[in-house]
Formats: sequence, C-alpha cells, structure tokens
Amino acid sequence: MIKHDIVVIGGGLAGMRAAVEAAERGADVAIVSKMHPVRSHSGAAQGGINAALGNREDDSPENHAFDCVKGSDYLGDQDAIEAMTADAPKQIVWLEHRGCIFSRLPDGRIAQRPFGGAGSPRTCYSADVTGLVILHTLWEQLERFGVKVYEEFFATALCVEDGVGTGVVAYNMRTGALELVHAKATIFATGGLGRVYAKTTNGYASTGDGMAIAYRAGIPLMDMEFVQFHPTSLKENGVLLSEAARGEGAYLLNKDGERFMFKYAPNKGELASRDVVSRAEWTEILAGRGIDGCVLLDLRHLGREKILERLPQIRELALDATGKDAIDSPIPILPGMHYAMGGIETDKFGATRIPGVYAAGEVACVSVHGANRLGGNSLLETIVFGHRSAEHATNYIRSAGNVRPSERTLKAEHDRIAEILSRKGGERHSGVRKAANKAMSDHAFIFRNEAELTAGMEALRAVRAAAATMTVADKSKTFNTDLVGLLETEFLVDVAQPIMLGALNRQESRGAQSRTDYPERNDAEWMKHTLMRYQGKTADPVADYSRKVTFTKYEPQVRTY
Ligand code: FUM
Repeated sequence: MIKHDIVVIGGGLAGMRAAVEAAERGADVAIVSKMHPVRSHSGAAQGGINAALGNREDDSPENHAFDCVKGSDYLGDQDAIEAMTADAPKQIVWLEHRGCIFSRLPDGRIAQRPFGGAGSPRTCYSADVTGLVILHTLWEQLERFGVKVYEEFFATALCVEDGVGTGVVAYNMRTGALELVHAKATIFATGGLGRVYAKTTNGYASTGDGMAIAYRAGIPLMDMEFVQFHPTSLKENGVLLSEAARGEGAYLLNKDGERFMFKYAPNKGELASRDVVSRAEWTEILAGRGIDGCVLLDLRHLGREKILERLPQIRELALDATGKDAIDSPIPILPGMHYAMGGIETDKFGATRIPGVYAAGEVACVSVHGANRLGGNSLLETIVFGHRSAEHATNYIRSAGNVRPSERTLKAEHDRIAEILSRKGGERHSGVRKAANKAMSDHAFIFRNEAELTAGMEALRAVRAAAATMTVADKSKTFNTDLVGLLETEFLVDVAQPIMLGALNRQESRGAQSRTDYPERNDAEWMKHTLMRYQGKTADPVADYSRKVTFTKYEPQVRTY
C-alpha cells in the first residue's frame, strides 16, 4: 500500500499547483498521474491567464468579476467568481516570483492582451505558449519540494470508508498491478472530457477520468450540459488556434470577405464571448456563407513581425496542418469542442460533498464559469483553485482522524478488471468510443433541440449497452494500452450521459446551451444548477435541481456584446 497525507490525482496545472501548495504547508503530498506532468494537456493552453493587474488600462477584480458573471450568462455562483478574481493578481505575482516568464510591456510590467468578453485587456501571457511556460514553472517547484510523482499510474476508483474519502485505487501501467493509494485527503485535478466528442482541441488523455470516478462514488456532476465550443479550431485536426489571435486583432471572415461578427455583436465584434462567436460562425456556415464548411481567421494585417513575436505557435500549427502561412494567407477554422464548464460539484474551496475529497481545475464545477467560460479563465481557475483546495485540504488533514485503508475497493477493482480481461466476443472499445463520439457530435453540438437530444439519449443507451461487453485483445501486464483505452472509454460513456440529459432537460437557451426550440433565457424557471447523480451501469442518470445560483451583487441583465 502507498500512503501519503494528501494525494493529488492529475499532474497538470491544477494538480501541480495544489501539490506545491500542500508541500509548502508541510504536508506529505504525492501526485498520481497517467502521464508525466509536463505532458499534461494544460501545456496546450495558449492565449493566457486573466488577472486584473491593470497594467494597460485601469482594471479591478470587481470589473473582472462582472465580466465573468455576464459571461456565465448569470449562472455562475457570484461568491466563487469574486473569490477567483480577488485571488487572481496574487497568484500571478506568486507565479512570477517562482520564475514564470511572462511577456512584457516596454516598461517591464507584465503585458496583458484583450480577450473575448472582457471589459479591459487583462490576459497575461507568454507569447502563445502560456500553459506550457506555467507548467514548466510548476514542475520546477515540484522538484524543489521533492514531491513524489507516481507517473503512469492511472486512477480507476475513489476509496470511501465511513463516508470519508481515503485515496484511490490506481492501475500501475508499467507493471499491470492495481495499487491502493491511501490518503486522508484526495484532490482530483484530472482535467476535462473533450474526447467525448469526435473533434476537440483537447489531448488524447482528456477522457473525463476524475469526473467519472467521483460520479460513480456518489458525488454529483454539476452543469454538465454546458460545453464550450471554441470559435477557432483547425478544420483539419480540431487543434486550437488561440483566441490570442483575435485578441491581437485578427478578423473572422465569411466567404464574401465580410467581417461578419459585427452583425452578431455590434460592440465587441470578434471579441464577443466564445458562445456568441461560435454560434455566429455556425450560423454563417449554415446559411451558406462559409467556405467548405469553415470560416476564415485572417491575421495578415497584423504583419509578419507581430505574428512571429506574439503568435508563433499559431502560425506553426496552422502551417503544419494546412500548409498555409498565416502571415500571407487566411486560415480555415470552425468551432470545436474545447472545454467542459460542468464537472465535479464543489464549493468555493474545492471541497465536494464527501469529506476529504476535493476537485480543482476543469474536472471541477466550482461554478465560476456558469453557462459559458471566458477565455483566459481556465488557466486562472487551475491556479486559484489548485491553491485553494490544497489550503483547505491541509487544514482538513490536521483535524481528520485516522482513516481505514479501503482494501475492499482494491478488491472490487481487482475483480472488475479481471472480469474485463476474461471477456470474449464483445465490442472493441475503439468502436464504442466512435459511437459515443458520433452521438455527442450529432446530437449535442452548438444548436440543440428536443428531438435531437432525445435521439441522442437513445443513441447513448445503445452505446452504454455495447460498453458493457467491451473486450481487449491484449491481456498482457506491461503498458497494456488496450486495457487503458477500454477503461477510458468507460469513463467517456459515463460522462456523456449527464451532458445529453442535462441539455435535454434544460428548456432554455443560456450561454453555451442554445436550444432552437427554447431560444430565450428563462430566469424564472431555470436560474438553477443541474446536479446529475449516477445510477449504475444500466440506468440513465437522475437530475436534481435543488442547488440554487449564489448571488452577491450582480443582477441578471440582458446579455449583449
Ligand atoms: O484560445 C485560447 O488561447 C484558449 C484559452 C482558454 O481556453 O482559456
């Protein structure tokens, strides 16, 4: 048995920030991660991290909070949002003091660029590789504190004894052994679920692991119907071209060369919030004003020097995928699945309903994004709530009594995986995953309606039945990626259903949930969170709407940009 005070599941930005904080506070903390931390998907984050430093124009945490509340279409919990925006400047200073290399203004202050839905330029950045730079900064801090990292350890189940979290069971991918990782506090930081859709900006590892594990253990998933489609993903491979491009002044054009965004967002144009821009693009494409199912991202007028200095990665990614050089050619793009606003329900300290279990970053739904997240707030969320959850967890372990190691969860996982390995016949997990991807992409995309979502639920029920028969061809122990792929597919199937059902139930349009049959926001009936509870492998989730939205001082208004 492996034993620590705190175990963090996931080695991306939220996980590393949590681990460093816990280590600084003297806790014995370890990370369990299915990959080396610097390979985490956080490294693909490009455009920047928001904080009201006010380095280019006056700004304040209150202005930042207002933009988030409006961006969330008033579904975000305002106390959590205020906590995040108040912490943001302190966390940027914390990163800077630990050697994070931010791009600079000529006078040496941290540079900040405009981002969608923001009233001021408040996105701090490192060219267009911000996530990678912060990831390396945090990795150095992990090394500094000697934090133990269990790499190629794939968490499969949460341990709960006497109503309290006691760590996880993890599959050691090098040996094929299941390990009991015992801890007084567990922090999930496993990132998102992008791979539930056929095309996504997310890495292959974003398979909803932490969400599914917590959900199976009885923690509700919250607001899962709100899925962000990023306006600028490459047609060829779904890879992200950062909002930084539009922040630096790039245009979106339709086939007539028109900058169409001003029809949809007269004040903000290309820098409206992401839900608005993605809907506008899709509307143009559906109306026949796209080019081969895309619209164009045009950077040419920014000039070679600015592109090479501030957006070098975007240029390279587009060049690799399309052969087109953004310096002299517009790039075909379209909206692509990017981010889950929903996730494991937590409070504003990252605590879940099970004592000793926390979640931070994209895996969590603290409710700082509500129905739509603003660009630049995901990196911020990882750092702020990585820090806050570790702060809370280190206090918790001091008062928590000794917890019993969950040998029974280890045994249950052992039996479950042995049964999977013994199956014959059944479906291949690649086919099941494709079917889940198709159901999500066909039925729960940007525009939704009752008939499509009902058909989507039916399709997912068939996927669920097929998933119960999945087999692996490889029965070996060392790096059995066939088995890992199957277990990841099971996670994806579990998290897909709350998205589809939440979207079907919510009879309104709010943020990223756009129902053509209910085109208006309906505050009277739907100003409430969706909680989805797991009912086992053979039943639909059950929805609960008892959690109200927390208001402080921002009254709902008509949302225009
Ligand atoms: O467009 C981007 O650089 C993505 C940023 C984000 O999702 O926050």
